[in-house]
Amino acid sequence: MSGIHSNEVGRVVGEPTTTIAPFLSKIPPRTGEYVILRYDGIEVLGMVEYVVRGNAALTGEIYDVDVIDKIRVLDRGRNEYVRGVIKILGDAKNFRIPRIPPPPGTKIYKADNTLLEKIFGKKGSRCIKIGRLLSHEDVPVYLDANMMVTRHLAILAITGAGKSNTVAVLSRELSKIGATLVIFDMHADYVRSDFDKLNSFEPRINPYYMSLGELGHLLRLDSRAHKQERIFRLAYKVAKEAVEGNRTSIAPARFVDVIKYVVYRVATGEPPSDMPDLEEVEDLEIYKKVTDTLKGFKNSAYNLLSRIEDFEERLKGIIDSQSPDALMLLRRGYINVVDLSRFDEEDADVIVSHYLRRILYERKRARLNEQVVESMATPVFLILEEAHILAPKDRSTLSKHWIGRIAREGRKFGVGLCLVSQRPKGLDPDALSQVNNMIILKLVEPSDQRHVQQASEQLSEDLLQQLPSLNVGEAIIIGPMTPLPVMVKIDKFEGRLGGSDINVVDEWSRGHMEEEGSLDDLVG
Ligand SMILES: Nc1ncnc2c1ncn2[C@@H]1O[C@H](COP(=O)(O)OP(=O)(O)OP(=O)(O)O)[C@@H](O)[C@H]1O
Ligand SMILES: [Mg+2]
Repeated sequence: MSGIHSNEVGRVVGEPTTTIAPFLSKIPPRTGEYVILRYDGIEVLGMVEYVVRGNAALTGEIYDVDVIDKIRVLDRGRNEYVRGVIKILGDAKNFRIPRIPPPPGTKIYKADNTLLEKIFGKKGSRCIKIGRLLSHEDVPVYLDANMMVTRHLAILAITGAGKSNTVAVLSRELSKIGATLVIFDMHADYVRSDFDKLNSFEPRINPYYMSLGELGHLLRLDSRAHKQERIFRLAYKVAKEAVEGNRTSIAPARFVDVIKYVVYRVATGEPPSDMPDLEEVEDLEIYKKVTDTLKGFKNSAYNLLSRIEDFEERLKGIIDSQSPDALMLLRRGYINVVDLSRFDEEDADVIVSHYLRRILYERKRARLNEQVVESMATPVFLILEEAHILAPKDRSTLSKHWIGRIAREGRKFGVGLCLVSQRPKGLDPDALSQVNNMIILKLVEPSDQRHVQQASEQLSEDLLQQLPSLNVGEAIIIGPMTPLPVMVKIDKFEGRLGGSDINVVDEWSRGHMEEEGSLDDLVG
């Protein structure tokens, strides 16, 4: 093998197949490095999957260190070899697996950057840059944004591996091409980020726009409290009729007050004295029927009243009966960040599900060329942080239903989903299996890895084995948004990103210095 040139990796040896080629070399190539094999008139792309280094003169049978040192001096590296395996990725033109294996002796070359750029580089205006090839750092990697949005995306990794950084880079790049994004931000990671087109806000809840189920969840109605549920359902009906029908002049802003009015009446048998302006309700046929039906429900109505008061107290400053439809706060062509950091998990679930339901509905109307809310006029990409909380594997939540619906139907209506999670095994497998693209950063736990592998046939055993050894920001990307599975160093988001690691020691020492300063002031 003395004739190896600098762009050669080695020669095929042994018994290659159409997918695996053992090789022998002098210089160790890097795992993950792309290579080219030319034979029978075709050019085939491969990737170095596994490398071992040995020396024929220094086998494991020698048990004396002095002997080893002597042989090394005599041998001067002449008997050193590198063996390994190349995974054949496919024909360099169309990525199809070749029909015939490379013959032993075939020369293996390093793939040059021009070829790799042709494969992973930008293809027209619909591609966005995400990072660089891990094995060839001067080759940029682009992803097909159309495929990313229509076939959905999951970003999975242990905590601190770079999920939010990836979301930030993706969002910035997508927003450059005019995308409308909605990030459901559970920990205020993005609210003050340096995005050119940032629209961040804390959602307001206008109960009038909430569905019966959503409002019931916010009230924390126990599913076993059938009587309370029934009172609530009927009171909700009366309130709808009161504010939507043309028999009263009651405004939608009084929606919850009408519900309370009805429940109070059921509890006490009397109309509430502090809401005389809602007396018109008494004239409604449905009101009479409902209060009649619920005559024997006194105790449950009292309990329901206190639930409503708890809800108003818990979400003080967030319930806003004047606030417009949730979608009116979103802006087309912006990175919309819905700040959910003040909500607990249960309430966040209701808010997210409300958004998902409304967004899917409006986008369906947009596809039928109906008049829609301005923010929904073009396709949207929805990014859900902590997806395992919103769509858990073993519980039902309101969002899980809508995540499933969007995962299945979103493609037709231009609603893309990006599920971000540090606990993939806790994620609903149905939703995950509808997601065709994945960016997987460091993932250590075997049960997490298996769960992801079950959802995606493209995640081969050898890629899986790479996952624990990835460094921060290094990722395996699979799915139709990339021509081939690829290992990437994701770009670092330049600028402020709320959720970056805190410099604990700096903050402590600053606190310490401030304290010393104030002591000095006292003494001085
Ligand atoms: N591609 C990258 N290049 C350089 N630094 C990175 C990269 N990705 C992430 N980092 C750094 O690593 C740290 C953690 O990143 P990030 O917050 O994105 O992780 P995460 O997976 O979202 O964590 P968590 O699960 O806690 O939300 C940050 O300080 C970030 O700046
Ligand atoms: Mg994060």
